[in-house]
Amino acid sequence: MVSPKIAPSMLSSDFANLAAEAKRMVDLGANWLHMDIMDGHFVPNLTIGAPVIESLRKHTDAYLDCHLMVTNPMDYVEQMGKAGASGFTFHIEVAQENWQELVRKIKSAGMRPGVALKPGTPVEQVYPLVEGATPVEMVLVMTVEPGFGGQKFMPTMMDKVQTLRQKYPTLDIEVDGGLGPSTIDAAAAAGANCIVAGSSVFGAPQPGDVITLLRESVEKASSPTT
Ligand code: DX5
Ligand code: ZN
Repeated sequence: MVSPKIAPSMLSSDFANLAAEAKRMVDLGANWLHMDIMDGHFVPNLTIGAPVIESLRKHTDAYLDCHLMVTNPMDYVEQMGKAGASGFTFHIEVAQENWQELVRKIKSAGMRPGVALKPGTPVEQVYPLVEGATPVEMVLVMTVEPGFGGQKFMPTMMDKVQTLRQKYPTLDIEVDGGLGPSTIDAAAAAGANCIVAGSSVFGAPQPGDVITLLRESVEKASSPTT
């Protein structure tokens, strides 16, 4: 029922050639482009914001899967919507109080709302957001501590993915951090269908082969067994 979405993380791309890098990934079969927005406060790293999304949007029609690692996601909704973001995924750790309003605003700004959880955050915290009157449309299970590319995949996070998949068969479930040829099968078997991959794609001699391998693993795990 859910389809694979392979989302190269542009954090690992050459930021000075972002438009060309985006085109290269789409041409190699990427479904989405994962954009890591970091504010230097929620995470100890500073990356890009709405102006860069706006510039990139002029060069691509691709789905821009924006992952907001920021302390005040509400402050970014309007500008990200205007810039042309497609998905807006905020962290539950900073939206306990106002997630309902936040999700409403994201939708009315024309974006698809998603919620992310850090490795230490219990999965139960996102249930109300998936089941709410205005629900989120994706849950992002972090498989590393957010902040940097190139970290080691945490296999223990697969329990969260499995729990979510059992509870919500048609939900988009994304995994982010340390995904690549050696870890994809665990994530796919647990039920993840949206796969973010930075260093394993951009660091490969043939990034297209890695994208294909990731997609095939998700397809294989989600096809009905006979
Ligand atoms: C980490 C970011 C990730 C990161 C993934 O905080 O959210 O999207 O770019 O990079 P890899 O695939 O190298 O772990
Ligand atoms: Zn990310």
